[in-house]
Amino acid sequence: MKHFLSIEALSAADIHGLLASAARLKRARGAHGSQPLAGQTWALIFTKSSTRTRVSFEVGIRELGGFPMFLSKNDIQLGRGEPIKDTARVLGRLVQGAVIRTFAQQDVSDFASYSGIPTINALTDDEHPCQILADLLTIEEKLGALRGCKIAFIGDGFSNMTRSWMWAAKHLGFDLTVAAPAGYQPPGWFLAALAAPNVRVTADPLVAAQDAHVINTDVWLSMGQEDQTDKERAFAGFEVNAGLLAHAAPKHLVLHCLPAYRGKEISEEVLELHADTIFQQAENRLHVQKAILVELMG
Ligand code: CP
Ligand code: NVA
Repeated sequence: MKHFLSIEALSAADIHGLLASAARLKRARGAHGSQPLAGQTWALIFTKSSTRTRVSFEVGIRELGGFPMFLSKNDIQLGRGEPIKDTARVLGRLVQGAVIRTFAQQDVSDFASYSGIPTINALTDDEHPCQILADLLTIEEKLGALRGCKIAFIGDGFSNMTRSWMWAAKHLGFDLTVAAPAGYQPPGWFLAALAAPNVRVTADPLVAAQDAHVINTDVWLSMGQEDQTDKERAFAGFEVNAGLLAHAAPKHLVLHCLPAYRGKEISEEVLELHADTIFQQAENRLHVQKAILVELMG
């Protein structure tokens, strides 16, 4: 694997391989291991905010022997309009790899093409592939296996998180139901391209939650959408709360990639009841990203 740009581009074997590697790296954390990034500098180029992604990549790169260089858009000329392809051609000559969080998926693909160095998607408007790997690892740890799982996603039906979840379901074959209000469901062209009969869409959160083993949600307004108050109003009735979870399978997990907005997409009570799982998800970002970095070193 030269780059890690999306869940869409992966195969089932890629995903299973990365999850197995992440589990091994998690068990071995702190033991003296190999340092595949020794002597390398990796640029972290972020044009959106981050707590988990930034810190877990900085720690992971250091644990693998490398040096992370954090570059917010305000620190570099990208923020003043220098094209991504010029930024890529400069950094490609100076650093050994890049982790990018930004808006357009095309910018991450262009960076990978023009820089020639291993490039990782740390969230775009289209996908959040590192997060999905952490979520899948958490499900495997807590429930044993993904096969046979009935997974519900309640919230924005066409956010980066939902899109990555739908591609994961396509590759791995688990049952995924997305519940989203009209206007915020995955569009027909996307579902046609996905071509996954195991992915269903409903406007009724209770239908998605029924007998689900995993209930997943995310913010209603993703980064860059903060002023879309009309959108937020459309999600009334989509809170993951105790009433909704009463319909889920008796033993179920609640996942949230964080940050969480209590009283909106998730109730305070549910978040705190499932905090062990949700913060395990956050920790697992470190382990899956180390697995990605190791894989890119080939
Ligand atoms: N879940 C996630 O990507 O968190 P951050 O935005 O804090 O990185
Ligand atoms: N959908 C969210 C995910 C945050 C980790 C966003 O893009 O803001």
